[in-house]
Amino acid sequence: MRKKVIAGNWKMNMLPDAAIRFIDELTPMVKNTENEVVLCVPYTDLFYSLLAAQNTNIKIGAQNMHWEESGAYTGEVSAKMLKSIGVEYVIIGHSERRQYFAETDETVNKKIKAAFANELKPIVCVGETLEQRESGDALNVITMQTQKALEGLTEEQVANTIIAYEPIWAIGTGKTATSEDANEAIKAIRNKISDLYGQNTSNRIIIQYGGSVKSTNAKELFEMSDIDGGLVGGASLKAEEFAKIVNYN
Ligand code: PGA
Repeated sequence: MRKKVIAGNWKMNMLPDAAIRFIDELTPMVKNTENEVVLCVPYTDLFYSLLAAQNTNIKIGAQNMHWEESGAYTGEVSAKMLKSIGVEYVIIGHSERRQYFAETDETVNKKIKAAFANELKPIVCVGETLEQRESGDALNVITMQTQKALEGLTEEQVANTIIAYEPIWAIGTGKTATSEDANEAIKAIRNKISDLYGQNTSNRIIIQYGGSVKSTNAKELFEMSDIDGGLVGGASLKAEEFAKIVNYN
């Protein structure tokens, strides 16, 4: 049985005092869950969040990183730096980074390799635009993105990657993919992984759904056969709402 991983993506929100308060509030509400609870916070919240989450079941992640270990890359943060303070997860290739910050399949691939080299768990985002969905291209786009992201990884690394299927048209729009469509897309990704890395790997890899997940639709989505939890944006900014999503089952 694959574990469900419920990850919050705060994006560019929350000052450190709010982050600490959030984690203090969330801690008792999620302490009994069997699901993996992750909060992906801004860089400036990482240290405070790690301290606040000490001795809890809440894991802390970053939202991006650079693939080089160190060097003349003004404004960037490396996987090694994240690891050095105790970060466990990192989101890679979020559609907002692909769209606004020139992230490509190639840089996503380099970042995943650097994440593994530093023992960080990557949450890799793939997803189609509305145009691609309407032209019937969605499954093709997301399976290609997956293939390029994972190129050159070992089977063991692929099995330890988390993929977040996030249709771009569903992010922050209040429009959620139907649970059937989301499951179909995630099945297509899993089948591709089975073709490339074998069935054992595809059975092990965790694939989340993301895009307007909230407490009122989490259960329906996460109970689908192939959906292993979610990457949650807007609804992860309120502790009570996020706790309901974590405790959906
Ligand atoms: P949303 O964002 O839940 O606000 O749609 C999801 C994401 O971008 O990861």
